[in-house]
Amino acid sequence: MWGGRFGEGPGDIMREINASIPFDKRLWQEDIAGSKAHAQMLAAKGIISSADESAIQQGLSTIHAEYEANGVPEDWTLEDIHMVTETRLRELVGEPAARLHTARSRNDQVATDFRLWVRAAIGQIDTGLRAFQSTLVMRADEHAESIMPGFTHLQVAQPVTLGHHLMAYYEMAKRDRSRFADCANRLNHSPLGAAALAGTSFPIDRAATAKSLGFDGPMANSLDAVSDRDFALEFLTCATQTALHLSRLAEEMILWASQPFGFIALPDAWSTGSSIMPQKRNPDAAELVRGHAGRIMGCMTSLMVTMKGLPLAYSKDMQDDKPPVFEAYDLLALSIAAMTGMVGNVSFKTERMRDVASSGFSTATDLADWLVREHGMPFREAHHVTGSVVKATEARGIGLEAVSVDDLAAVHPPLAGCTLPDLSVEGSVASRTSAGGTAPLRVREAIAVARKELEA
Ligand code: ARG
Repeated sequence: MWGGRFGEGPGDIMREINASIPFDKRLWQEDIAGSKAHAQMLAAKGIISSADESAIQQGLSTIHAEYEANGVPEDWTLEDIHMVTETRLRELVGEPAARLHTARSRNDQVATDFRLWVRAAIGQIDTGLRAFQSTLVMRADEHAESIMPGFTHLQVAQPVTLGHHLMAYYEMAKRDRSRFADCANRLNHSPLGAAALAGTSFPIDRAATAKSLGFDGPMANSLDAVSDRDFALEFLTCATQTALHLSRLAEEMILWASQPFGFIALPDAWSTGSSIMPQKRNPDAAELVRGHAGRIMGCMTSLMVTMKGLPLAYSKDMQDDKPPVFEAYDLLALSIAAMTGMVGNVSFKTERMRDVASSGFSTATDLADWLVREHGMPFREAHHVTGSVVKATEARGIGLEAVSVDDLAAVHPPLAGCTLPDLSVEGSVASRTSAGGTAPLRVREAIAVARKELEA
Protein backbone atom coordinates (compact mmCIF):
# COMPACT_ATOMS: atom_id res chain seq x y z
CA MET A 1 0.00 0.00 0.00
CA TRP A 2 2.91 2.34 0.66
CA GLY A 3 5.78 0.06 -0.50
CA GLY A 4 6.98 2.35 -3.34
CA ARG A 5 9.19 4.40 -1.06
CA PHE A 6 10.67 1.44 0.82
CA GLY A 7 13.40 -1.09 0.08
CA GLU A 8 12.04 -3.79 2.39
CA GLY A 9 8.88 -4.58 4.35
CA PRO A 10 8.32 -4.01 8.05
CA GLY A 11 9.81 -6.36 10.65
CA ASP A 12 7.59 -8.78 12.53
CA ILE A 13 7.20 -6.68 15.64
CA MET A 14 6.56 -3.56 13.57
CA ARG A 15 3.87 -5.46 11.73
CA GLU A 16 2.34 -6.65 14.97
CA ILE A 17 2.27 -3.29 16.70
CA ASN A 18 0.90 -1.62 13.58
CA ALA A 19 -1.92 -4.04 12.89
CA SER A 20 -5.38 -2.93 13.93
CA ILE A 21 -7.26 -5.57 11.96
CA PRO A 22 -7.74 -7.78 15.06
CA PHE A 23 -10.13 -5.16 16.43
CA ASP A 24 -11.07 -2.79 13.61
CA LYS A 25 -12.58 -5.64 11.64
CA ARG A 26 -15.69 -4.72 13.62
CA LEU A 27 -15.96 -1.73 11.27
CA TRP A 28 -16.35 -3.89 8.17
CA GLN A 29 -19.94 -2.97 7.36
CA GLU A 30 -19.30 0.74 7.82
CA ASP A 31 -16.12 0.50 5.77
CA ILE A 32 -17.96 -1.09 2.86
CA ALA A 33 -20.80 1.42 3.10
CA GLY A 34 -18.30 4.31 3.12
CA SER A 35 -16.46 2.92 0.09
CA LYS A 36 -19.69 2.44 -1.82
CA ALA A 37 -20.76 6.01 -1.15
CA HIS A 38 -17.32 7.30 -2.12
CA ALA A 39 -17.21 5.29 -5.37
CA GLN A 40 -20.68 6.44 -6.35
CA MET A 41 -19.70 10.08 -5.80
CA LEU A 42 -16.40 9.67 -7.73
CA ALA A 43 -18.32 8.36 -10.73
CA ALA A 44 -21.04 11.00 -10.46
CA LYS A 45 -18.32 13.68 -10.54
CA GLY A 46 -16.54 12.03 -13.47
CA ILE A 47 -13.45 11.27 -11.37
CA ILE A 48 -13.72 7.56 -12.16
CA SER A 49 -15.62 5.94 -15.02
CA SER A 50 -19.04 4.42 -14.47
CA ALA A 51 -17.66 1.05 -15.64
CA ASP A 52 -15.05 1.23 -12.87
CA GLU A 53 -17.71 2.24 -10.41
CA SER A 54 -19.95 -0.70 -11.19
CA ALA A 55 -17.03 -3.11 -10.89
CA ILE A 56 -16.24 -1.59 -7.49
CA GLN A 57 -19.86 -1.75 -6.34
CA GLN A 58 -20.23 -5.37 -7.37
CA GLY A 59 -16.92 -6.31 -5.79
CA LEU A 60 -17.86 -4.60 -2.55
CA SER A 61 -21.22 -6.39 -2.49
CA THR A 62 -19.42 -9.70 -2.94
CA ILE A 63 -17.05 -8.86 -0.10
CA HIS A 64 -20.02 -7.94 2.08
CA ALA A 65 -21.50 -11.39 1.47
CA GLU A 66 -18.13 -13.07 2.08
CA TYR A 67 -17.53 -11.31 5.38
CA GLU A 68 -21.07 -12.02 6.47
CA ALA A 69 -20.67 -15.72 5.76
CA ASN A 70 -17.07 -16.30 6.84
CA GLY A 71 -15.97 -13.34 8.92
CA VAL A 72 -13.20 -10.90 8.09
CA PRO A 73 -9.78 -12.46 7.37
CA GLU A 74 -7.15 -11.23 9.80
CA ASP A 75 -4.06 -10.53 7.75
CA TRP A 76 -1.60 -8.49 9.80
CA THR A 77 0.46 -7.58 6.76
CA LEU A 78 -2.56 -5.65 5.51
CA GLU A 79 -2.75 -3.66 8.76
CA ASP A 80 -6.39 -2.74 8.98
CA ILE A 81 -9.94 -3.25 7.78
CA HIS A 82 -9.49 -0.65 5.05
CA MET A 83 -6.55 -2.44 3.44
CA VAL A 84 -7.94 -5.92 3.98
CA THR A 85 -11.09 -4.94 2.11
CA GLU A 86 -9.32 -3.00 -0.61
CA THR A 87 -6.90 -5.86 -1.20
CA ARG A 88 -9.76 -8.31 -1.52
CA LEU A 89 -11.47 -5.91 -3.91
CA ARG A 90 -8.35 -5.84 -6.03
CA GLU A 91 -8.34 -9.65 -6.15
CA LEU A 92 -11.97 -9.64 -7.21
CA VAL A 93 -12.19 -6.80 -9.73
CA GLY A 94 -8.61 -5.85 -10.60
CA GLU A 95 -7.58 -2.36 -11.63
CA PRO A 96 -10.78 -0.44 -10.81
CA ALA A 97 -10.15 -1.32 -7.14
CA ALA A 98 -6.97 0.71 -7.27
CA ARG A 99 -8.96 3.79 -8.33
CA LEU A 100 -11.26 3.67 -5.29
CA HIS A 101 -8.77 5.43 -3.03
CA THR A 102 -8.70 8.54 -5.26
CA ALA A 103 -9.44 11.68 -3.21
CA ARG A 104 -9.53 9.67 -0.01
CA SER A 105 -7.18 8.73 2.80
CA ARG A 106 -7.48 6.15 5.50
CA ASN A 107 -7.60 9.11 7.83
CA ASP A 108 -10.98 10.35 6.64
CA GLN A 109 -12.03 6.78 5.90
CA VAL A 110 -11.52 5.55 9.45
CA ALA A 111 -13.06 8.68 10.96
CA THR A 112 -16.13 8.11 8.80
CA ASP A 113 -16.38 4.39 9.57
CA PHE A 114 -16.02 4.96 13.27
CA ARG A 115 -18.69 7.65 13.37
CA LEU A 116 -21.07 5.35 11.54
CA TRP A 117 -20.29 2.56 13.97
CA VAL A 118 -20.83 4.70 17.06
CA ARG A 119 -24.07 6.01 15.59
CA ALA A 120 -25.38 2.46 15.18
CA ALA A 121 -24.13 1.50 18.63
CA ILE A 122 -26.10 4.37 20.14
CA GLY A 123 -29.20 3.04 18.40
CA GLN A 124 -28.65 -0.37 20.04
CA ILE A 125 -28.02 1.14 23.47
CA ASP A 126 -31.13 3.25 23.16
CA THR A 127 -33.24 0.18 22.37
CA GLY A 128 -31.78 -1.56 25.42
CA LEU A 129 -32.39 1.38 27.71
CA ARG A 130 -35.94 1.70 26.48
CA ALA A 131 -36.61 -1.95 27.37
CA PHE A 132 -35.01 -1.34 30.77
CA GLN A 133 -37.33 1.61 31.33
CA SER A 134 -40.41 -0.40 30.30
CA THR A 135 -39.46 -3.07 32.80
CA LEU A 136 -39.00 -0.50 35.56
CA VAL A 137 -42.41 0.97 34.77
CA MET A 138 -44.04 -2.46 34.79
CA ARG A 139 -42.61 -3.30 38.21
CA ALA A 140 -43.35 0.19 39.55
CA ASP A 141 -46.96 -0.25 38.51
CA GLU A 142 -47.17 -3.54 40.44
CA HIS A 143 -45.69 -1.82 43.47
CA ALA A 144 -47.10 1.69 43.40
CA GLU A 145 -48.57 1.03 46.86
CA SER A 146 -45.90 -1.25 48.31
CA ILE A 147 -44.08 0.40 51.15
CA MET A 148 -40.35 0.29 51.68
CA PRO A 149 -37.98 2.31 53.80
CA GLY A 150 -36.45 5.34 52.15
CA PHE A 151 -32.89 5.87 53.32
CA THR A 152 -30.52 8.72 53.88
CA HIS A 153 -27.03 7.83 55.12
CA LEU A 154 -28.32 4.25 54.69
CA GLN A 155 -30.37 4.88 57.84
CA VAL A 156 -34.13 4.45 57.67
CA ALA A 157 -35.38 7.95 56.94
CA GLN A 158 -38.99 8.06 55.76
CA PRO A 159 -41.26 5.46 54.23
CA VAL A 160 -41.50 5.57 50.46
CA THR A 161 -43.22 3.41 47.89
CA LEU A 162 -41.27 0.81 46.00
CA GLY A 163 -42.84 2.08 42.79
CA HIS A 164 -41.44 5.51 43.52
CA HIS A 165 -37.99 4.07 44.13
CA LEU A 166 -38.04 2.17 40.83
CA MET A 167 -39.29 5.22 38.95
CA ALA A 168 -36.22 7.12 40.17
CA TYR A 169 -34.19 4.79 37.93
CA TYR A 170 -36.63 5.39 35.09
CA GLU A 171 -35.71 9.08 35.29
CA MET A 172 -31.99 8.31 35.26
CA ALA A 173 -32.37 6.13 32.19
CA LYS A 174 -34.40 8.87 30.54
CA ARG A 175 -31.54 11.33 30.98
CA ASP A 176 -29.08 8.69 29.78
CA ARG A 177 -31.06 8.21 26.59
CA SER A 178 -31.25 11.92 26.03
CA ARG A 179 -27.47 12.22 26.47
CA PHE A 180 -26.88 9.45 23.94
CA ALA A 181 -29.35 11.07 21.54
CA ASP A 182 -27.49 14.32 21.91
CA CYS A 183 -24.22 12.55 21.16
CA ALA A 184 -25.73 10.88 18.06
CA ASN A 185 -27.01 14.21 16.89
CA ARG A 186 -23.70 15.98 17.33
CA LEU A 187 -21.64 13.21 15.74
CA ASN A 188 -23.76 13.07 12.63
CA HIS A 189 -21.47 15.03 10.29
CA SER A 190 -19.28 13.44 7.71
CA PRO A 191 -15.47 13.57 7.73
CA LEU A 192 -15.34 11.89 4.31
CA GLY A 193 -13.52 14.02 1.74
CA ALA A 194 -11.18 15.61 4.27
CA ALA A 195 -8.68 13.15 2.77
CA ALA A 196 -5.38 12.93 4.67
CA LEU A 197 -5.80 16.29 6.41
CA ALA A 198 -5.94 19.13 3.91
CA GLY A 199 -8.82 18.23 1.60
CA THR A 200 -8.23 17.21 -2.00
CA SER A 201 -7.60 18.71 -5.42
CA PHE A 202 -10.29 16.50 -7.00
CA PRO A 203 -13.74 18.03 -7.58
CA ILE A 204 -15.47 15.83 -5.01
CA ASP A 205 -18.99 16.29 -3.65
CA ARG A 206 -18.81 15.94 0.11
CA ALA A 207 -22.47 16.78 0.55
CA ALA A 208 -23.40 13.81 -1.64
CA THR A 209 -21.34 11.26 0.31
CA ALA A 210 -22.57 12.74 3.57
CA LYS A 211 -26.15 12.38 2.42
CA SER A 212 -25.83 8.84 1.17
CA LEU A 213 -24.33 7.77 4.51
CA GLY A 214 -27.16 9.39 6.43
CA PHE A 215 -25.09 12.25 7.81
CA ASP A 216 -26.61 15.71 8.21
CA GLY A 217 -23.79 17.18 6.12
CA PRO A 218 -20.01 17.31 5.79
CA MET A 219 -17.75 18.49 8.61
CA ALA A 220 -16.59 22.02 7.99
CA ASN A 221 -12.84 21.76 8.57
CA SER A 222 -10.68 19.02 7.07
CA LEU A 223 -8.12 19.10 9.89
CA ASP A 224 -10.85 18.80 12.49
CA ALA A 225 -12.60 16.10 10.47
CA VAL A 226 -9.65 13.69 10.58
CA SER A 227 -8.44 14.46 14.08
CA ASP A 228 -11.67 14.81 16.03
CA ARG A 229 -12.64 11.97 18.34
CA ASP A 230 -15.08 13.97 20.45
CA PHE A 231 -17.87 11.67 19.31
CA ALA A 232 -16.06 8.64 20.73
CA LEU A 233 -15.29 10.46 23.97
CA GLU A 234 -18.85 11.65 24.27
CA PHE A 235 -20.08 8.14 23.67
CA LEU A 236 -17.80 6.96 26.46
CA THR A 237 -18.94 9.66 28.87
CA CYS A 238 -22.57 8.79 28.12
CA ALA A 239 -21.73 5.13 28.61
CA THR A 240 -19.97 5.88 31.88
CA GLN A 241 -22.88 7.89 33.20
CA THR A 242 -25.31 5.13 32.27
CA ALA A 243 -23.06 2.45 33.77
CA LEU A 244 -22.86 4.50 36.95
CA HIS A 245 -26.66 4.49 37.24
CA LEU A 246 -26.85 0.76 36.59
CA SER A 247 -24.14 0.24 39.17
CA ARG A 248 -26.10 2.11 41.84
CA LEU A 249 -29.13 -0.06 41.18
CA ALA A 250 -26.91 -3.14 41.17
CA GLU A 251 -25.49 -2.09 44.52
CA GLU A 252 -29.01 -1.72 45.91
CA MET A 253 -29.96 -5.15 44.65
CA ILE A 254 -26.87 -6.64 46.26
CA LEU A 255 -27.79 -5.02 49.58
CA TRP A 256 -31.45 -5.94 49.25
CA ALA A 257 -30.63 -9.56 48.50
CA SER A 258 -28.47 -9.84 51.62
CA GLN A 259 -29.94 -11.54 54.70
CA PRO A 260 -29.89 -8.45 56.96
CA PHE A 261 -32.03 -6.61 54.40
CA GLY A 262 -34.03 -9.50 52.98
CA PHE A 263 -35.93 -7.18 50.62
CA ILE A 264 -35.67 -9.29 47.48
CA ALA A 265 -35.23 -12.82 46.26
CA LEU A 266 -33.47 -13.26 42.95
CA PRO A 267 -34.84 -16.19 40.96
CA ASP A 268 -32.57 -19.16 40.23
CA ALA A 269 -31.93 -17.91 36.72
CA TRP A 270 -30.36 -14.76 38.15
CA SER A 271 -28.41 -16.32 41.02
CA THR A 272 -25.27 -18.34 41.35
CA GLY A 273 -24.15 -20.75 44.00
CA SER A 274 -20.93 -21.29 45.90
CA SER A 275 -18.63 -24.26 45.33
CA ILE A 276 -18.07 -24.67 49.06
CA MET A 277 -21.12 -23.22 50.85
CA PRO A 278 -24.15 -25.19 49.70
CA GLN A 279 -26.65 -22.71 51.10
CA LYS A 280 -25.39 -19.72 49.11
CA ARG A 281 -27.34 -17.78 46.49
CA ASN A 282 -25.19 -14.99 45.19
CA PRO A 283 -26.22 -11.92 43.18
CA ASP A 284 -23.25 -12.25 40.81
CA ALA A 285 -24.91 -10.55 37.87
CA ALA A 286 -25.52 -7.42 39.92
CA GLU A 287 -21.96 -7.53 41.23
CA LEU A 288 -20.64 -7.79 37.69
CA VAL A 289 -22.77 -4.86 36.55
CA ARG A 290 -21.23 -2.91 39.42
CA GLY A 291 -17.78 -4.14 38.40
CA HIS A 292 -18.30 -3.44 34.70
CA ALA A 293 -19.08 0.18 35.52
CA GLY A 294 -15.48 0.50 36.70
CA ARG A 295 -14.18 -0.96 33.47
CA ILE A 296 -16.38 1.33 31.38
CA MET A 297 -15.01 4.33 33.28
CA GLY A 298 -11.56 2.95 32.56
CA CYS A 299 -12.35 2.92 28.83
CA MET A 300 -13.38 6.56 29.02
CA THR A 301 -10.23 7.49 30.89
CA SER A 302 -8.11 5.54 28.44
CA LEU A 303 -9.29 7.46 25.39
CA MET A 304 -9.25 10.81 27.19
CA VAL A 305 -5.60 10.23 28.01
CA THR A 306 -4.82 9.05 24.49
CA MET A 307 -6.27 12.20 22.97
CA LYS A 308 -5.17 14.86 25.38
CA GLY A 309 -1.69 15.46 24.05
CA LEU A 310 -2.15 14.90 20.33
CA PRO A 311 -1.30 17.69 17.90
CA LEU A 312 -3.38 18.08 14.74
CA ALA A 313 -4.05 16.18 12.61
CA TYR A 314 -3.90 12.35 12.62
CA SER A 315 -1.43 10.45 14.78
CA LYS A 316 -1.26 6.69 15.00
CA ASP A 317 -2.11 6.87 18.69
CA MET A 318 -5.62 7.43 17.43
CA GLN A 319 -5.79 3.86 16.20
CA ASP A 320 -6.13 3.03 19.89
CA ASP A 321 -9.48 4.86 19.97
CA LYS A 322 -11.44 1.78 18.99
CA PRO A 323 -10.75 -0.90 21.62
CA PRO A 324 -12.06 1.17 24.55
CA VAL A 325 -15.19 2.14 22.62
CA PHE A 326 -15.88 -1.44 21.57
CA GLU A 327 -15.21 -2.73 25.06
CA ALA A 328 -17.40 -0.11 26.72
CA TYR A 329 -20.20 -0.84 24.27
CA ASP A 330 -20.06 -4.58 24.86
CA LEU A 331 -19.96 -4.20 28.62
CA LEU A 332 -22.73 -1.64 28.69
CA ALA A 333 -25.07 -3.52 26.35
CA LEU A 334 -24.65 -6.63 28.51
CA SER A 335 -25.10 -4.68 31.74
CA ILE A 336 -28.33 -3.10 30.50
CA ALA A 337 -29.67 -6.50 29.47
CA ALA A 338 -28.68 -8.00 32.83
CA MET A 339 -30.30 -5.24 34.86
CA THR A 340 -33.43 -5.46 32.74
CA GLY A 341 -33.58 -9.19 33.39
CA MET A 342 -33.01 -8.83 37.12
CA VAL A 343 -35.51 -6.01 37.60
CA GLY A 344 -38.07 -7.91 35.57
CA ASN A 345 -37.70 -11.16 37.48
CA VAL A 346 -36.81 -10.29 41.05
CA SER A 347 -39.44 -10.91 43.70
CA PHE A 348 -39.90 -8.14 46.19
CA LYS A 349 -40.53 -9.20 49.78
CA THR A 350 -42.95 -6.41 50.50
CA GLU A 351 -43.87 -7.50 54.04
CA ARG A 352 -40.26 -7.37 55.12
CA MET A 353 -39.84 -4.01 53.39
CA ARG A 354 -42.89 -2.64 55.17
CA ASP A 355 -41.64 -3.87 58.56
CA VAL A 356 -38.33 -2.17 58.11
CA ALA A 357 -40.08 0.94 56.79
CA SER A 358 -41.97 1.29 60.04
CA SER A 359 -38.86 0.86 62.17
CA GLY A 360 -36.54 3.63 63.22
CA PHE A 361 -39.34 6.15 63.91
CA SER A 362 -39.62 6.70 60.19
CA THR A 363 -42.83 8.72 60.54
CA ALA A 364 -41.35 11.25 62.98
CA THR A 365 -41.44 13.90 60.25
CA ASP A 366 -45.17 13.24 59.88
CA LEU A 367 -45.67 13.99 63.57
CA ALA A 368 -43.67 17.21 63.27
CA ASP A 369 -45.63 18.21 60.14
CA TRP A 370 -48.89 17.51 62.03
CA LEU A 371 -47.80 19.80 64.89
CA VAL A 372 -47.16 22.54 62.32
CA ARG A 373 -50.37 21.97 60.39
CA GLU A 374 -52.86 21.28 63.18
CA HIS A 375 -51.32 23.20 66.05
CA GLY A 376 -49.70 26.12 64.31
CA MET A 377 -46.27 25.32 65.74
CA PRO A 378 -43.18 26.69 63.95
CA PHE A 379 -41.41 23.76 62.27
CA ARG A 380 -38.21 24.08 64.32
CA GLU A 381 -40.21 23.81 67.55
CA ALA A 382 -42.26 20.93 66.14
CA HIS A 383 -38.98 19.18 65.28
CA HIS A 384 -37.83 19.60 68.88
CA VAL A 385 -41.10 18.36 70.41
CA THR A 386 -41.12 15.36 68.06
CA GLY A 387 -37.53 14.59 68.98
CA SER A 388 -38.57 14.45 72.66
CA VAL A 389 -41.51 12.15 71.79
CA VAL A 390 -39.14 9.83 69.90
CA LYS A 391 -36.73 9.82 72.84
CA ALA A 392 -39.50 8.93 75.30
CA THR A 393 -41.05 6.21 73.10
CA GLU A 394 -37.65 4.73 72.30
CA ALA A 395 -36.94 4.42 76.03
CA ARG A 396 -40.20 2.48 76.37
CA GLY A 397 -39.42 0.24 73.43
CA ILE A 398 -42.47 1.19 71.36
CA GLY A 399 -42.82 2.73 67.92
CA LEU A 400 -44.48 5.99 66.96
CA GLU A 401 -47.57 4.15 65.74
CA ALA A 402 -48.25 3.20 69.38
CA VAL A 403 -47.94 6.72 70.81
CA SER A 404 -50.94 7.88 72.89
CA VAL A 405 -52.38 11.33 73.49
CA ASP A 406 -50.96 11.17 77.02
CA ASP A 407 -47.49 10.48 75.63
CA LEU A 408 -47.77 13.62 73.53
CA ALA A 409 -49.17 15.68 76.37
CA ALA A 410 -46.37 14.51 78.63
CA VAL A 411 -43.89 16.17 76.30
CA HIS A 412 -46.05 19.14 75.32
CA PRO A 413 -48.99 19.77 77.73
CA PRO A 414 -51.14 21.81 75.28
CA LEU A 415 -51.61 18.61 73.27
CA ALA A 416 -53.74 17.08 76.05
CA GLY A 417 -57.03 15.85 74.63
CA CYS A 418 -56.03 16.27 70.96
CA THR A 419 -57.05 13.84 68.19
CA LEU A 420 -54.07 11.59 67.39
CA PRO A 421 -52.38 12.00 64.02
CA ASP A 422 -52.08 9.08 61.60
CA LEU A 423 -48.49 7.98 62.04
CA SER A 424 -48.77 4.75 60.07
CA VAL A 425 -46.40 4.21 57.17
CA GLU A 426 -49.41 4.00 54.85
CA GLY A 427 -50.67 7.35 56.07
CA SER A 428 -47.21 8.80 55.69
CA VAL A 429 -46.70 7.82 52.04
CA ALA A 430 -50.28 8.71 51.13
CA SER A 431 -49.70 12.22 52.46
CA ARG A 432 -46.59 12.86 50.35
CA THR A 433 -48.58 14.25 47.46
CA SER A 434 -46.33 17.14 46.49
CA ALA A 435 -45.21 17.09 42.86
CA GLY A 436 -42.68 14.31 42.40
CA GLY A 437 -43.55 12.88 45.83
CA THR A 438 -43.87 9.25 46.87
CA ALA A 439 -47.67 9.07 47.34
CA PRO A 440 -49.16 6.20 45.32
CA LEU A 441 -51.33 8.77 43.59
CA ARG A 442 -48.26 10.63 42.30
CA VAL A 443 -46.45 7.41 41.42
CA ARG A 444 -49.38 6.34 39.26
CA GLU A 445 -49.29 9.70 37.53
CA ALA A 446 -45.55 9.35 36.94
CA ILE A 447 -46.15 5.90 35.48
CA ALA A 448 -48.79 7.26 33.12
CA VAL A 449 -46.41 9.99 31.94
CA ALA A 450 -43.65 7.42 31.50
CA ARG A 451 -45.88 5.17 29.43
CA LYS A 452 -46.65 8.07 27.12
CA GLU A 453 -42.95 8.88 26.85
CA LEU A 454 -42.13 5.28 25.99
CA GLU A 455 -44.79 5.18 23.31
CA ALA A 456 -43.49 8.35 21.69
N1 ARG B 1 -5.89 1.76 11.09
C1 ARG B 1 -5.80 3.18 11.16
C2 ARG B 1 -6.58 3.69 12.37
O1 ARG B 1 -7.40 3.00 12.86
C3 ARG B 1 -6.32 3.82 9.93
C4 ARG B 1 -5.74 5.15 9.65
C5 ARG B 1 -4.32 5.00 9.22
N2 ARG B 1 -3.79 6.24 8.81
C6 ARG B 1 -2.48 6.46 8.71
N3 ARG B 1 -2.09 7.62 8.36
N4 ARG B 1 -1.61 5.54 8.99
O2 ARG B 1 -6.35 4.77 12.86
